[in-house]
Amino acid sequence: MKPFVLTMALTAAITLAGAARANDDNLCLDCHEPTEDWQGMSAQEILEQAMDGSIKRHADNQEFTQEQLEALIAEMLDPPAPE
Ligand code: HEC
Repeated sequence: MKPFVLTMALTAAITLAGAARANDDNLCLDCHEPTEDWQGMSAQEILEQAMDGSIKRHADNQEFTQEQLEALIAEMLDPPAPE
């Protein structure tokens, strides 16, 4: 791989890791305990509920794109090991 391409890939990876870290205090956790609330639910099911505008307390979720919600959910379902 060319050094330039490698640098670009690394930069992207670091940027993504930073974004994921910022999500550690993600808004869903203000109201939810994923391991209890969403036990047995798939990421797809959780995503559908998160985007469901008929849940009044999910109003803030509408500000996120589907991709952002997917990332938040993936993060909550698969928390990084504590350092
Ligand atoms: C302001 C509080 C609040 C926030 C923030 C919030 N939710 Fe909810 N959520 C609720 C309430 C209230 C319900 C409805 C519970 C019920 O009807 O039993 C709900 C229901 C759900 C459900 C259906 C299963 C369940 O627990 O009842 C899912 C899945 C869900 N939320 C996912 C999310 C995700 C993902 C996020 C973050 C993107 C999020 N929620 C953020 C309050 C919140």
